[in-house]
Amino acid sequence: MAGREHKPIPVCEPTLLGNEKTYVLDALETGWISSAGKYVTQFEQAFAAYCGVSHGIAVCNGTVALHLALTAAGVGKGDEVIVPDFTMISSAFAVCYAGAVPVFVDAEPYTWNIDPAEIEEKITSRTKAIMPVHIYGHPCDMDEIHEIAGRHGLLVVEDAAEAHGAEYKGKRAGSFGHVNAFSFFANKNITTGEGGMVVTDDAELAEKCRYYKNLCFPLDAPRTYIHDNIGFNYRMSNLLAAIGLAQVEKADAYRSMRIRNGQIYRDHLTKVPGITTQPQKNGCLNVYWMNGIIVHPDHYGHTRDELASHLRESGIDTRNFFVGLHRQPALEKYGCPSGSNFHVTDTLARQGLYLPSSSHLTAKEIESTCDKIAAFARP
Ligand SMILES: Cc1ncc(COP(=O)(O)O)c(C=O)c1O
Repeated sequence: MAGREHKPIPVCEPTLLGNEKTYVLDALETGWISSAGKYVTQFEQAFAAYCGVSHGIAVCNGTVALHLALTAAGVGKGDEVIVPDFTMISSAFAVCYAGAVPVFVDAEPYTWNIDPAEIEEKITSRTKAIMPVHIYGHPCDMDEIHEIAGRHGLLVVEDAAEAHGAEYKGKRAGSFGHVNAFSFFANKNITTGEGGMVVTDDAELAEKCRYYKNLCFPLDAPRTYIHDNIGFNYRMSNLLAAIGLAQVEKADAYRSMRIRNGQIYRDHLTKVPGITTQPQKNGCLNVYWMNGIIVHPDHYGHTRDELASHLRESGIDTRNFFVGLHRQPALEKYGCPSGSNFHVTDTLARQGLYLPSSSHLTAKEIESTCDKIAAFARP
């Protein structure tokens, strides 16, 4: 983090400015390094409160958080789950782990989130749930999604892996679905290195998550070592929860840093021809987990890949956007219905790039990145 004056700017690093070291040392010194320590419960309660829900169930990563949420919600073999085509593979894999089939819906071109207008045509008698994903920190249109879900009697399971603290009409990500999942991977706005959490307001679902996450040991009965169901070991260690608690204590500050960075990028890049940034739709608070841009070669004068190489040579790390789920061989082999109408996702995947996005980036670093992008334009 410090002394980076002439070093490459990484695409994302964790920001660890609070009590992380103190709490981890405490966990080490007291010997509570498994999942049985006090930080797990404290982190669960603090993060659930941050999201505005009553229950948090800490797990070892965001992918299994999604699987646990789906399992607790009763999603299983023979079911279909509506997912955005434009998302990280984990959203779909979690559905497959549950034995269900992910059914893809194209992105809408403004926010890059799932297009609610295309959800209904994908619903069948097997559809059990809709999984909105708040892409790069921009919340989905939750009113429309709930309206569709309500009309068809479907569950909503948010994949909020990228959207800690994001808001839609004043409510926070993680509080919209019946049972929802976060990732705390090292590049996330709140991190434990590796980690995840299921959050919900439903006490019964929370209890099921606790049961399944710990090998289906009975929750409030003596250990007989008799298991009535197939469970998972998805427990989070106290060492990681210690980091998580310290992160939640600083969550508002980290969120403000991310939002400020997003604003600086937008202020500079909107002036560059052929570059589009992710907007913030009315009624939404985008927390800019990643600062994505779309490169329009006809106006910018270079392709996305040419810009990425140019930035790499200038010591600025970037990443290409996700490739659509409909183009994933693993999902095709699994038997997911493919179809060909995913034009928005395909454009995003071909032309999208995300720029350095660590919370602690300086304005100078962001401005120099924007200057390089602007100077490379050949409109
Ligand atoms: C949308 C989305 N869902 C799920 C995950 C999975 O989280 P993890 O990497 O913690 O397993 C990620 C990770 O970046 C993600 O971006």
